Amino acid sequence: MTTVFFEGKFVPLEEAKISIMTHAFLYGTSVFEGIRAYWNEIDKKMYIFRPLEHFERLKQSAKILRLELNHTPEQMVALTQELLRRNAPKEDMYIRPISYKAGMRIGPALLNNPSEFCMFTVPMGDYIDTDKGVSVVVSNWRRIEDNAIPARAKIAGSYVNTALAKTDALLSNFADAIVLDERGHVAEGSAMNIFIVRSGKLITSQVSNNILEGITRSSIIELAQNELGLEVVEREIDRTELYIADEMFFCGTGAQISPITSVDYYDVGNGSIGSITTSLKNLYFSAVKNKNPKYAHWCVEV
Ligand SMILES: Cc1ncc(COP(=O)(O)O)c(C=O)c1O
Repeated sequence: MTTVFFEGKFVPLEEAKISIMTHAFLYGTSVFEGIRAYWNEIDKKMYIFRPLEHFERLKQSAKILRLELNHTPEQMVALTQELLRRNAPKEDMYIRPISYKAGMRIGPALLNNPSEFCMFTVPMGDYIDTDKGVSVVVSNWRRIEDNAIPARAKIAGSYVNTALAKTDALLSNFADAIVLDERGHVAEGSAMNIFIVRSGKLITSQVSNNILEGITRSSIIELAQNELGLEVVEREIDRTELYIADEMFFCGTGAQISPITSVDYYDVGNGSIGSITTSLKNLYFSAVKNKNPKYAHWCVEV
């Protein structure tokens, strides 16, 4: 039996039901997080990766959508630990907390509209290839703008943008898409941030380029600076910089580290996975499984 957390209680998944009149279902008015917990086969323990940072971002998303959270980020970390304890998985898991507008009425306004919270976990391996290198395409779809639906907040409704870009890419036989903002600068992947390497520097879109401010992104920045001594630059990236980059990779909770070996049929570098990407990928996977004591503070034991 799978246990979930639903409207204040741990209940069997089958009992966690919402009405078809729920505001979040009618208008996409919920915010969520995607968190991974990794099973460490040597320790025989489960570690949740940076859950506090995820719940702090959930709090920011909730603020933007005028949702009220009944729990502090610390309390939500404890709830996540308890949920995993109750389900006792022994494999890598994905955790999905959701704060949603639970009013049952027609009309999109966010006021006088109660908030509810739920959370479930599912087993999850690779969401996108992390080994061989992926071929991607620059999407025809533009990234949602901060003044339309803020990408900084992880709002369910904005994932229509992701769904359109990702589906188009899959229909054209690409693994994923790179999405540009309205001014033509690189925002991110469909549901992941992006890094490129040029002349030994690690470059990623800045937070004002309509991106989700990724927790993996900030982990990569720290690992690159502290472990590889790399210069990391957050700035606008032009589309054609993608075509001349030496290395490139996606990063995100779902995507983890996914090396990109071609964009719009241009090889990235010589078309194979670059050495900086490989080093960062190894550092990342060792950190998330709590195999690097220096980053043990990122891993919360269940
Ligand atoms: C649109 C988008 N960008 C970036 C990311 C990466 O964020 P994080 O590393 O916090 O998972 C995600 C989620 O994984 C996302 O959905």
